[in-house]
Amino acid sequence: MLRNATGLVAALLISFGAAHAQTAAPAAGSPDGKALFASKTCVACHGRGGAKAIQMYPDLAGQEAKYMLEQMNDIAEGKRLSGPDARGYPRTQGMKDVMHLVTVEERKVIADYLSKEPAPKPRKLDPAPDEARLAQGKEAYVKGGCVTCHGAEGLKPLVGHPYLGGMKRDYLVLQMTEIRDGVRQSAKLKTMLPFAKKLDEAKIAVIADYLSQVERPAK
Ligand code: HEC
Ligand code: HEC
Repeated sequence: MLRNATGLVAALLISFGAAHAQTAAPAAGSPDGKALFASKTCVACHGRGGAKAIQMYPDLAGQEAKYMLEQMNDIAEGKRLSGPDARGYPRTQGMKDVMHLVTVEERKVIADYLSKEPAPKPRKLDPAPDEARLAQGKEAYVKGGCVTCHGAEGLKPLVGHPYLGGMKRDYLVLQMTEIRDGVRQSAKLKTMLPFAKKLDEAKIAVIADYLSQVERPAK
């Protein structure tokens, strides 16, 4: 059992080494987002194509490109913080530790690649929320004013804003809670704060259940 996220990445780096040498050789001057994503440890936590079933980690496949680039930079610079994972380490720490492996230009290439990958299908929840609960979640999302920036059903975000539809329930709960409580901050998040402040635990839970079950249409 590995003790922390950095240890996990180190171990995965070693195991990736062999495959990496054969596959990730983009032509000089034209970095390939897919190869960078595979070779710079990102897949270890985010999964192939940026879609992985760990409920606490965000899906990246199909996410908005500008938003992702900003988040990578913020995490790399220690500006985006998070609460602890199950072992007591900040969830952003393992990623911060590897971000020196990618230049800002490479981050942009990776973000462009990921934004074009097909978003995963909604994950089944256990117990599955019934229609009434999904309708409650939708109502709380609409009445909460979330549509303004994230779009109807979390599917039409403003430029530089995240898609929320179809994202993992547990990840959504964590982010809404930590944005509301000021654990996660950014200059841009100041616009969301007044909306987030109105969310109690019950609203966060029902909105997350609803959004996690929204299916992203194929592009
Ligand atoms: C050790 C695990 C780990 C590694 C390695 C890692 N990440 Fe992350 N990443 C995370 C976690 C965990 C979060 C969410 C943190 C939180 O909960 O606030 C995240 C967040 C992100 C986000 C923001 C997503 C969102 O919806 O806000 C992007 C974009 C991202 N990672 C891209 C990358 C890229 C590109 C790489 C490789 C260069 C990478 N990550 C490497 C764990 C990792
Ligand atoms: C005025 C614009 C605005 C409104 C309204 C708004 N948000 Fe946001 N939201 C943002 C911005 C900007 C970010 C991310 C910015 C950053 O981290 O730099 C964000 C991030 C998020 C995230 C994190 C996504 C991820 O991938 O990590 C969640 C979840 C979220 N918002 C939910 C909501 C909900 C639910 C509501 C309604 C109660 C809402 N937002 C209303 C602007 C808004």
